Amino acid sequence: MSNDRWNAVDTYFNEQLAPADEALSAAVAASDAAGLPQIAVAANQGKLLHLLALAQGARKILEIGTLGGYSTIWLARALPADGQLISLEYDPAHADVARANVARAGLDKTVEVRVGAALDTLAQLEAEDAGPFDFFFIDADKVNNPNYVEWAVELSRPGSLIVVDNVVRDGTVADATSEDPSVLATRRMIELVGEHPRLSATAVQTVGLRGYDGFLLARVQD
Ligand code: SAH
Ligand code: DHB
Ligand code: MG
Repeated sequence: MSNDRWNAVDTYFNEQLAPADEALSAAVAASDAAGLPQIAVAANQGKLLHLLALAQGARKILEIGTLGGYSTIWLARALPADGQLISLEYDPAHADVARANVARAGLDKTVEVRVGAALDTLAQLEAEDAGPFDFFFIDADKVNNPNYVEWAVELSRPGSLIVVDNVVRDGTVADATSEDPSVLATRRMIELVGEHPRLSATAVQTVGLRGYDGFLLARVQD
């Protein structure tokens, strides 16, 4: 099946089910204008994150990997007025774009973007006793995915949900002989999750505007 077909279906679903509004369109435009890579989740994927966080009744969300704040806006819109989303971003230029996009969406009271290597800012969150978070979206450097999942469990409560983006990457995740550090780390993450006594999980392949990829969904057990 062709990518043209996948894209046509995503475009149709997005028009019907996840139409852009002013804040989302402005976030994409400002991210492109600032030269950020075009690797934010697609609209229907953002809507999926939004619906998962809503269904979870999330009040506190932790995102790892902000970019221009596109997924951040979808997630923060699932929060109640007194909810909180902390998003961790390494690149200060990305964080600046994200903060402006989040403010334009009227979410600056809800969202805090923290700059630094996530392994450092996660340790800070732990030191501050910032958890537990109800929902996690892991979407940063793939080599640290095993570490990020371990940190998510550390900062979770029974019933918390963890979503990991980009776990398929054109099917490379199934290549046991791969020497690509991102593939190796994603495979270690999948295996760690599968063996983890406190996690119940699945992973699903996706096609569409972001190519052939997939999500992992895990729940912290009671
Ligand atoms: N979640 C975003 C896309 C994130 S892209 C969306 O869907 O809209 C991945 C982001 O992770 C990039 O902005 C990159 O700068 C950031 N990143 C890479 N390594 C990181 C690290 N060690 N700590 C925190 N963020 C990191
Ligand atoms: C890349 C990162 C992402 O988070 C994504 O969704 C797509 C691509 C990347 O680093 O290439
Ligand atoms: Mg991603």
